[in-house]
Amino acid sequence: MNLNDTPNTLAQILAYHERTKHRLERYAAGPEALDWDAQPNPFREFLGAGKTALPLAADTLTTPFDALHQPATIAPYPIDLHAIGILLELSLAISAWKEYGPDRWAVRCNPSSGNLHPTEAYVIGRHIPGLANGVYHYLSLDHSLALRCRHAPSADDVTDTSTGLYIGLSSVAWREAWKYGERAFRYCQHDVGHALGALRYAAAVLGWQVHVHEEISSQELAYVLGVDRDNDYANAEREEAELLVSIGPASKNNLPPALPPFIAREWFGQANRLDPHPMYRWPVIDEVATATRKPGTLPMQWTAERAAERVAEQSASEPSSTPLPPLPALPSLPSLPRAKHLPAATLLRQRRSAQHFDRAQTLDTASFYRLLDAVLPRDTLPWDVWSFEPRLHLILFVHRVAGLAPGIYALPRDAAAKENLRQAMQQDFAWTKPANCPSHLPLYCLIEAPVSKIARSIGCHQAIAADGAFSLAMLAEFEPTLTAAPWRYRQLFWEAGLIGQVLYLEAEAAGVRGTGIGCYFDDACHELLGLTGKSFQSLYHFTVGSPLLDERISSHPAYPASPR
Ligand SMILES: Cc1cc2nc3c(=O)[nH]c(=O)nc-3n(C[C@H](O)[C@H](O)[C@H](O)COP(=O)(O)O)c2cc1C
Repeated sequence: MNLNDTPNTLAQILAYHERTKHRLERYAAGPEALDWDAQPNPFREFLGAGKTALPLAADTLTTPFDALHQPATIAPYPIDLHAIGILLELSLAISAWKEYGPDRWAVRCNPSSGNLHPTEAYVIGRHIPGLANGVYHYLSLDHSLALRCRHAPSADDVTDTSTGLYIGLSSVAWREAWKYGERAFRYCQHDVGHALGALRYAAAVLGWQVHVHEEISSQELAYVLGVDRDNDYANAEREEAELLVSIGPASKNNLPPALPPFIAREWFGQANRLDPHPMYRWPVIDEVATATRKPGTLPMQWTAERAAERVAEQSASEPSSTPLPPLPALPSLPSLPRAKHLPAATLLRQRRSAQHFDRAQTLDTASFYRLLDAVLPRDTLPWDVWSFEPRLHLILFVHRVAGLAPGIYALPRDAAAKENLRQAMQQDFAWTKPANCPSHLPLYCLIEAPVSKIARSIGCHQAIAADGAFSLAMLAEFEPTLTAAPWRYRQLFWEAGLIGQVLYLEAEAAGVRGTGIGCYFDDACHELLGLTGKSFQSLYHFTVGSPLLDERISSHPAYPASPR
């Protein structure tokens, strides 16, 4: 038995989850005071590692966002430094600098709790024109790659000279813990899910696929990325290895190869210290990180057929390959500027979190259903990246959607989950399908009622949970998943982050805007739904609506050379 599978590990993870719940009577343990001037450096650098500047060429791509869902229409780019530059420019790069009074801060294509950005990315290249074989750390500050490790040619390299592009993600938990204390580990995991989604969409613009290598263990990944190298992090905050993906124009029926064997010839660079004077320590974060490290496992065979089966299960009448059917002509209020035809390269970089919503606006019915449709597991973008069973289901708090009564709705993302949710939640919920709902969408009204106030209370009293068109909770199949494999604790949050990234981008395309909500009262949400026990737990909340923009904040180009 692997150490990470012991009942003790499971108990540790469940205990972490329990103690990091925000409760109406007290928030999870965090710092009592924050000195904003002492925020940890959001940019990791490896001092002494040679840098390669990446080109900024995303503006040359005109593929509309809509076209990403029809991959056959996008000719795959060859993998080279130029294309890698675009991939990162559209996923993890800075997308703008913001200024308000004396404050200036960077925002990125990928969102992050508190804009603290704990996620680090490493590019592993093999036979890529313009890039020596090795591991490179991506620095979004100047859009460059720093050579961390040069790989020596292995026996495989002689016989196989095919191109390989891999990206490994890691988290610097301290960046989040500095502000959020013990709950920070959860936010780091959400951010990994968002980063995965950001990479998937950016890859699609280049006509590429993304494949998660679930077989690799956390320990192996730490070795590959070099985050286990004590000397390179002497006196610097450590990184936790999270996820490895391979990226390229591979067909989805052709599983991309596992990371080929390599010989690490030489490592370069010393990690910079991010916070010279850390005030607090949250040892429980290190404990849960250790408890959720993944053992090596056999790769799961993702097949298009399995994905098709899943959606077919949702509705016997609608096969998954059928694109979203035309939506009924319903009154739509008011008409918001639609952005679906914007170049994807523009849309991915203009994604922002709404800070305030306009309560006078109502979301049109068609956009609402399109947003829900986009989170259903399919074998198309971005769900082709997720080879695991869908384990998260949506509970929606509908406030202002044309043609739909305000109330609580459920969207089980898997046919089997509907019955389980029904049994686990309040027995007097109605479970009726809205009359105007497209037949393939598994949306059910549980109760019709004004729910703005309760949504606001559950969302740590944040107005964004109440003032938009709708907000939602993501309910995870929790204890059964963790009992089978405790390390999937991280994966549940990744799935939540991925759903969040879909909502962010689809909302942007619909001319509205979303915001992730990590601050919510866990058990208040469960109680409202009648959930007892740990079969389902709410792992992430989200809100969508018409944004009110803060004109006082000015926006400036991401990089000196970039026109935006
Ligand atoms: C996991 C996660 C949790 C978040 N929680 C909240 C929240 O509770 N309240 C809020 O106003 N914004 C929340 N946000 C939005 C972030 O503050 C926002 O992403 C960040 O400031 C960067 O801005 P941007 O999304 O416009 O790039 C969250 C974002 C993420 C990814």
